[in-house]
Amino acid sequence: MSSASTLHFAVIGDPIGHSKSPLMHNAAFRALGIDADYTAVHVTREGLPAFLESARTSLSGFNITVPHKNAVIPFLDGITPRAALAGSVNTVSVRDGKLFGDTTDAAGLERAVQEVFGLPLKGANVCILGCGGVVRALAFHLADAGCARLRILNRTAEKAALLTDEILKHAPALDCGFAALDDLPSVRNALDGSDLVIQCTSLGLHEGDGSPVDPALIPSSACLFDTIYRETDILVRCRERGLRVSGGLPMLVHQGAESFRIWTGREAPVDVMRAAAES
Ligand SMILES: NC(=O)c1ccc[n+]([C@@H]2O[C@H](COP(=O)([O-])OP(=O)(O)OC[C@H]3O[C@@H](n4cnc5c(N)ncnc54)[C@H](OP(=O)(O)O)[C@@H]3O)[C@@H](O)[C@H]2O)c1
Repeated sequence: MSSASTLHFAVIGDPIGHSKSPLMHNAAFRALGIDADYTAVHVTREGLPAFLESARTSLSGFNITVPHKNAVIPFLDGITPRAALAGSVNTVSVRDGKLFGDTTDAAGLERAVQEVFGLPLKGANVCILGCGGVVRALAFHLADAGCARLRILNRTAEKAALLTDEILKHAPALDCGFAALDDLPSVRNALDGSDLVIQCTSLGLHEGDGSPVDPALIPSSACLFDTIYRETDILVRCRERGLRVSGGLPMLVHQGAESFRIWTGREAPVDVMRAAAES
């Protein structure tokens, strides 16, 4: 039951009906006895400026999902250095009518990889499949976390080339390179010796989708983390080969937990949030 002192939070996106964030955050508020609620709000591109103006007085914070993670930035009063590097915001805190943006996707991925595989990013050989918004945040985070080698494989090689240039300017000592997904010898080289392969393309979101690379090329000693929640072709085929694999749910839970910490200043009840996301 909401009262005058209840804090209000939300997630915005288009579409938004599928979001598990309300389940996770409401369960977390309940578990810690925090008087707050969290709702999903459908916001179109055209409706974004009006939503943000009203959020200054009506909300304490909100999450942002597709397609607004970049578009929101010019409307904010400040963003963290990591959000500026990523060019992406998924968490906004409202303080005294001002909007402050941050991104928790990459920190969520790092915690998920630690939790599921026990694999530290420092010193790891990492190969990323894809080069969209999530990869931008992830690549700078991996560079800062001290990964030993980073390879970015993308359908559109030019995008991976541009990001690789930016990463090398940010972290000149990093062994960082890219290749086109259809350049088989380079893909083979990039995957060879990988400790961690992170699947960040949208291929696999739909039933019947194939894999962005031949799963047989991924070393059997590697861990495969697929950012997609469902059982993708690459995840199933790597698991059949005996690789350690994970779908994207732990990342969702940990990026949400990081948002929760930012808003409340309290440690998030991760197990409660995970159980809610799985329900
Ligand atoms: N688990 C979580 O918490 C979480 C959070 C955020 C996102 N995600 C997932 O992360 C993935 C990427 O999200 P995003 O925001 O970065 O998406 P995005 O910006 O739209 O990028 C999509 C990427 O997929 C590639 N791609 C699309 N169709 C492809 C195909 N048929 N073959 C090969 N590559 C293809 C694109 O390649 P081109 O550059 O060539 O177009 C691009 O690199 C999505 O699957 C999303 O569901 C998970």
